[in-house]
Parts: sequence; C-alpha cells; structure tokens
Amino acid sequence: MSALRNTDYRGKVMILVTGSAGFIGANFVLDWLAQHDGIVIGLDKLTYAGNLENLVSLKDDPRHIFVRGDIGDAGLVGKLLAQYHPCAVINFAAESHVDRSIHGPEDFIQTNIVGTFHLLEAARAYWSGLAEPEKTGFRFLHVSTDEVYGSLAKDEPAFGETHRYEPNSPYSASKAASDHLVRAYHHTYGLPVLTTNCSNNYGPYHFPEKLIPLMIVNALAGKPLPVYGDGQQIRDWLYVKDHCAAIRCVLEKGRLGETYNIGGWNEKANLDIVHTVCALLDELRPRSDGKSYSEQITFVTDRPGHDRRYAIDARKIENELGWKPAETFETGIRKTVRWYLDNQNWVSNVQSGAYRQWVEKNYAERG
Ligand code: NAD
Ligand code: TYD
Repeated sequence: MSALRNTDYRGKVMILVTGSAGFIGANFVLDWLAQHDGIVIGLDKLTYAGNLENLVSLKDDPRHIFVRGDIGDAGLVGKLLAQYHPCAVINFAAESHVDRSIHGPEDFIQTNIVGTFHLLEAARAYWSGLAEPEKTGFRFLHVSTDEVYGSLAKDEPAFGETHRYEPNSPYSASKAASDHLVRAYHHTYGLPVLTTNCSNNYGPYHFPEKLIPLMIVNALAGKPLPVYGDGQQIRDWLYVKDHCAAIRCVLEKGRLGETYNIGGWNEKANLDIVHTVCALLDELRPRSDGKSYSEQITFVTDRPGHDRRYAIDARKIENELGWKPAETFETGIRKTVRWYLDNQNWVSNVQSGAYRQWVEKNYAERG
C-alpha cells in the first residue's frame, strides 16, 4: 500500500477505525484484515447500533484490538494515537439513522459534529508531532453521505463532488457540518484528510432499522412492510463490500483534501426495492400459505421532510482512482437476503428490548 507507510513497533501497518462495531465499520475491518497483515484498532462507543457480534470472527485474532470509547473523548483518542502510532484514522463513527434524528437530534449534534471536532483535534495534535516519513504518510479519512447534497428532482443530474451542500434532516445537517470541519482542518492546518460521500449501503450486518434489513426481518416475522408515503422516493444503492473497497482505494491513492463520491449506479424507488426483497424471499423461503411476501406491504405516513431522490455521479473515483463497484443491485441484494436467511441468530440477538422500543415508537406514530 503506497500511501500508507507508517508501521507500528512490530513492523506492521496499523490503522485506527472509529465506529468499527457498526454496519459499515465492521464490514471494513473484516475486509481489511482479510487482505492486509496489519493491525486494526477499533474504537466504538457501542451505542444501540454498535454490535461486537459483528466482529466475533476476530475474537482470537491478535491483529484486532477493540476499545470501547467515544470519538468525542479527545484524551482517550490522544492516548490511543500515542500508544499505537497508526498511519491512518478512518472515521465511520456517527449517529446514522434519519428517523432517529427527527425524533431526537441531540445525539447527532454531539457525535457527528462535536465528536468529529474532538477526533480532528486529537488527530492534528498527533500528526503535528510525527517525524517524516510518517507525517507525510498519515491519512485522516472521513466517511460521509450523499445526503449532505439535499434532494434531487427526477430529471436533475446526479450529485457530483462540487454539488452545493443543502442538507435537509438533522442527520444530514450534522454530517454536512462534520464534512466542513474536516475540510477546514486540511485548509487551515494542512491535516492530510480525505472525504468520501457515499450512497445508501446494504449488505451483511445491517441493523434492521434501515429499509432493506427491516423489510427482510419483518417479512420473515409475518409483520407489515411499512413503506413511507408513496414509496417512490429514489436512492442509489451500494453493496457494502464495494464501499469498503472504494475506501481502501481512496486511502491508498486519493489526493489529499479531495472529496470522492461513491455510488453503485443503482437508482431504485423504495417500493421497487421492497418488491425485489419480497420476490427473493418468495423464491428462497416461500411463505407457508403459498402467497407472496408482497401481500405484507403497507403504506404508512411519510417521513417529515423526506428527500425525494439521491443519485451519485461516481465518475471521479472511477476515472482518477480506477475503482468501480463489483456488484450489480441484483447480485448484491441476492447475497444480502441469503446472508439474513443464514444468520437468523444475529438477527434475533440484535432485536433487543431497546430495538423493540424504537420500532414501536417510530411506527406507532405512522398509523
Ligand atoms: P451505524 O449506525 O451502523 O454504525 C455507527 C457506529 O458508530 C456504531 O457502531 C456506533 O456504536 C458507533 N458510534 C456512535 N457514536 C459514537 C461515538 N460518539 N464514538 C464512537 N463510536 C460511536 O452506521 P453505518 O451505517 O455503519 O455508517 C457508518 C458511517 O457511514 C457513518 O458516518 C454514516 O454517516 C456513513 N454513511 C452510512 C450510509 C449507510 O447507508 N449506512 C450511507 C452513507 C454514509
Ligand atoms: P433508510 O434505510 O432509513 O436510509 P436513508 O433515510 O438514509 O436513505 O431509508 C431508505 C429509504 O426507505 C428512505 O427513503 C425512507 C424509506 N423507508 C421506508 O419507506 N420505510 C421504512 O420503514 C424505512 C426504515 C425507510
């Protein structure tokens, strides 16, 4: 890996991954360790969304060091950086669910804005004290979202990296603020940052509060499949392992201070997604009464301020860095549904009391 030259005291590449027990962070750590003989320090607060079961396959792997803690705890982060001497910080830690941000925005401000600020401060102090060539080789990669760009009309071109920021939810506003801080730390202090803005991920270990895993889990449980509004909102869908590959590529080859948009070239309306999930379940785990799971679809009250369409123009990362998604939506969604069918224990374990309370709160109000 050319850009990542810093090695730890054992001569191995060492990286710090925040939010490592969440959906994308865990997939990233698992994929990274499958491909590198380096060491990963995972830092995660273990909120409702963080789940150490996602990393259980690394339980006895000495290349994985997990620390429970908050990115906003600059003292802790500073200590970890000084102790482990990583060559990169990859920041996945965030409050990530739009509906939760509508019910309670404060945690989003704390983690996504204040937490990222403290993480940047700790990274800047550490980086400033590095000697060459470690200093030049250091990277701070911030993982963000296409939602910072706001909503597109049906015929508008997809989001490019220079699209204006127009966040509409407390979640996207807090991510937008964190992107601006990351940018400012590069321009003001020279911190070697990279920012990625990706579309909706899906795949293994996706917490079942988000559209695709919620539909799979509810369908199998015989529950309603709640489609917000008319179900014609459009998202671009990116298989999580393609996203992880894109982040590795940006880390290795990305130009400092640049933003890279990452998408799957899979624009789909929510209702089509739900029908696709139902059709796959009809094939792989048919209902005992012979009817289609799509009979469980229920239209419910829309999300307030619901963005109509997101779409990513991923040509920059493709042309500059040579990354392209490997999965089509058809191949990725089949793998995803199969994973949930094969991992029913994981599903029942994440459906704790706290999960049930959230589901009751979010859907009771939708009628
Ligand atoms: P997630 O909610 O599944 O995981 C977030 C993780 O961060 C959890 O493990 C949680 O415990 C941890 N965390 C929360 N607050 C923390 C704090 N203060 N300190 C340390 N850890 C904390 O989210 P995800 O889907 O894996 O998303 C990862 C990143 O990717 C986020 O920054 C999100 O904004 C971004 N993103 C996600 C998607 C998507 O479709 N999932 C799309 C675009 C961007
Ligand atoms: P979600 O997975 O929450 O991701 P995001 O809001 O970050 O795009 O939602 C994806 C889309 O699915 C979004 O348009 C809202 C919609 N949706 C439903 O229709 N029903 C649901 O129960 C959920 C959770 C989401």
